Amino acid sequence: ERPRVWVSQPLFDDVVARLGEHFDVVATARVTQHGPEAIAAALREADGALVTLNDPIGAAQVAGAGRLRAIANVGVGYNNLDLPALSAAGVLVTNTPDVLTETTADFGWALMMAAARRISEAEHWLREGHWRQWSFDSLLGGDVHGTTLGILGMGRIGQAIARRAAGFRMRVLYHNRSRLPEAVERETAASYVGFEELLTRADHLILVLPYSPQSHHLIDAAALARMQPHATLTNIARGGIVDEDALADALEHGRLAAAGLDVFEGEPALNPRLLALRNVVLTPHIASGSLATRRAMVALAVDNLIAALGYGPDAGRPPSPLNAAQLAERAGA
Ligand code: GLV
Ligand code: GLV
Repeated sequence: ERPRVWVSQPLFDDVVARLGEHFDVVATARVTQHGPEAIAAALREADGALVTLNDPIGAAQVAGAGRLRAIANVGVGYNNLDLPALSAAGVLVTNTPDVLTETTADFGWALMMAAARRISEAEHWLREGHWRQWSFDSLLGGDVHGTTLGILGMGRIGQAIARRAAGFRMRVLYHNRSRLPEAVERETAASYVGFEELLTRADHLILVLPYSPQSHHLIDAAALARMQPHATLTNIARGGIVDEDALADALEHGRLAAAGLDVFEGEPALNPRLLALRNVVLTPHIASGSLATRRAMVALAVDNLIAALGYGPDAGRPPSPLNAAQLAERAGA
C-alpha cells in the first residue's frame, strides 16, 4: 500500500502532482481555515503532510496520528508548528529556506521605500482626484539613500537586505541573537550593535527575525519610544513581534514617521487603528510572493516530503530538515 499524504491548501497543481508518483494524495481543493479538530482528523489518516503557515499543528493535532512521519512546511518561518511536540511524536519537520531569500529581501526593500516615500498614500491621493491641489510641498517623504538602515535579525534574508544597501550608500547596523563572523560582517558591510542602539540610531528599521516567545512584542511602546520621530519601521517577519496598539499610538502622534507592514498579529484580521492611518503601508503577507519563488517553495516542500518519507533520489535525506538531530537523538535514546 502506498503512503498517504495530506496537502492542506491548494498550491500549484503541477508542482504538487509529483507527490502522486509515490503517494496517494488527499488534497484540499479550496483555501481553507482548517480548525484544530479538522487538522487532527486529516493527520490521523496520513503518513506525511504538506502544510502552510495557516495550519497550526501541535501536540493535540498529532496525538492520534500513529502513521504520521513527516510534515513539510511551505514557508521558511515555522511558528505555526510546535517543533518540540512534533519531535516528541517522532515527526520529521522541514521548511523552505534559501529559495525565498532574495525575493523576500526585494519586498522588504520595496515596503521600506514605499513607507519612507509615502507611495501608497500618494496613490490614494491621486486616485481620489486631489492632483489639482498639488503644491511643491505635497506628500514629502524621508530619504532612504545615505541614511542608517537598522536590521533586526541577521539571517539569510537580513543579510540579503544588507547587501542591497550598498547601492544606496547607507550605513548598515544590525542586531541578532549572535554576532556574525567577521567575514560575513565585512561582506555585508554591516556593523553589530546592541538592541537599544539599533533602535535609537536607525533611520529605517526592518524586522526579519523569527517569531518566538522571546520576540513576542519585542517592538513595544518602550522600544518605539527609543526610535527617532523621522524613522520608519518595516515588518516582513511575523506580526506578533510588534505591539500593534503601541505602533498605532506612535504613528498617530508623530513619534514615528511611517510603517510598512506585511504581517499582522491576528492576520487576516487587521487592527482597525492601523487601517485608519495614512502613514502605514499594508500588504497581505506577500513578501515571498513572486511567481517563481512561490513555485520554488512548493517544489522544495515536495522534495522534502518525498525524501523524508524515504522515496526519490534523496531518500531519507530531505534538503531542509528542522529537527533531524532531535529525531536521531530520540531514536538513539
Ligand atoms: C513566510 O512568511 C515564510 O515564513 O515563508
Ligand atoms: C531566516 O531563516 C532567514 O532566512 O532569514
